[in-house]
Amino acid sequence: MKDKLEQLKIEATAAFAAAKDAAELEAAEIKYLGRKGMMAALMQGVAGLPPNERPMMGKFANEVKAVIDRALADRRAALEAEKRGAIATTEWMDLTVPGTRPPQGHVHIVTDAIAAVTGIFEKIGFTRVRYPEVEWDWYAFEALNMPKDHPARDEWETFFMDAPEDAKWGKMVLTPHTSSGQVRELKKGKLPIRMINISKTYRRQSDVTHVPMFHQFEGLMIDKDVSVTHLKGVLDHFAKEFFGAGRRTRLRPFHFRFTEPSFEIDISCDLCGGTGMQGGNKCRVCKEGWLELGGAGMVHPNVLTACGVDPEKWSGFAFGWGVERTMMMREGVKIDDIRHLYKNDFRFLTQF
Ligand code: PHE
Repeated sequence: MKDKLEQLKIEATAAFAAAKDAAELEAAEIKYLGRKGMMAALMQGVAGLPPNERPMMGKFANEVKAVIDRALADRRAALEAEKRGAIATTEWMDLTVPGTRPPQGHVHIVTDAIAAVTGIFEKIGFTRVRYPEVEWDWYAFEALNMPKDHPARDEWETFFMDAPEDAKWGKMVLTPHTSSGQVRELKKGKLPIRMINISKTYRRQSDVTHVPMFHQFEGLMIDKDVSVTHLKGVLDHFAKEFFGAGRRTRLRPFHFRFTEPSFEIDISCDLCGGTGMQGGNKCRVCKEGWLELGGAGMVHPNVLTACGVDPEKWSGFAFGWGVERTMMMREGVKIDDIRHLYKNDFRFLTQF
C-alpha cells in the first residue's frame, strides 16, 4: 500500500507538471483526484486495512494527497500566469488606428437652401410660417385682386382638385404660388407683420427650368409708413447674405394684380459684375449684367381691404419667387436641369 501511494505521488505530480494547458490539467485532476480517481481508490484501500495498520497508513495517505493537491494548485497558478503574460501578444489592439466612420448622409440641397433663406430673413425679424398646400381659389387668386375668369390667372398654370366647389371660397387648388400665404397672414389680423412663408407650390409645367412641384418663399411686411425703400433694403440684405457681399439688386417696373407698384427683381451677375461685358464680349451668362430673381411690389390696397386690413392705416411690401431657381443661381452650383433635383438619383445628390 505504501509503495502504491508513493508511486501515485510521483506519477500525479509529474502529470500535473507536464499539463500544457487548463484542459490537460483538468483531465489529470479527474484521473488522480476525482471522485472515482486513483487517490480515492487508494483511500478506500486504506479504510479497508486492519485497524492496527490503519492510522499510520492513513496519515501517510493524507501526506501524499497534500503533496498532490499542492502540485495541482501550483501548476494551475503557473498556467494562469502564463496566459496573462501572453495577453500582450494575443489580445493587443492599436488604439491609434483611425475608426471606421459610419456612412453619413446630408440634407437635400433644396432643404439646405430653405434653411439658409429662413435664417437670412429671421436675422432681420421675419417669422417663418407655413400655410396649406391645398388651398381655396379665394386665397390663391380672388383675395389677391384676381377676380374669377380674370386673364391674369392664366399665368399660374394651376392644378385644380377634383372636389366640390365652395360657395364662398370657390374651387380647391394646389397652391400655385406662396402669395396665398399673404392672405392667410393678413386675415389673422395681427399687425404689424413680418412674415417669410416658404412652401411647396405646384404648376402644370415640366422642362429644363420647371418642375410641377417646387418651392417658393414669400416675404410680407406690413406696418405704418412702409415704402419701396424698405423693400429695396430687405432685398439687398438677402442678395448679399445669400449670394455674396458684392451682389446688388435692381427693381424693374412690372405688373402684378396684387401689388402696386409692381417690380421684377434682378440680381447683378457674378461673372461680369453687373456690366454685361466680359473681355470685350457680351457676358455669356447674363448678356446684360443682370439675372432675373422674381416678383415684388407694394401690397395692393384691394388685397388689404379683402383681408380686413385698413389700407389708410397700414401699408407694406411683398416679394416672392422660387427656392430652386435661386439656389441654382448660387456661385459654383452648376445644375443644368432643374428636374435633377427631384429624381432621387444618388449619384446626383451625393455631389452636394
Ligand atoms: N406670386 C408671384 C409669382 O408667383 C410673385 C410675387 C410675389 C409678386 C409677391 C409680387 C409679390 O409669380
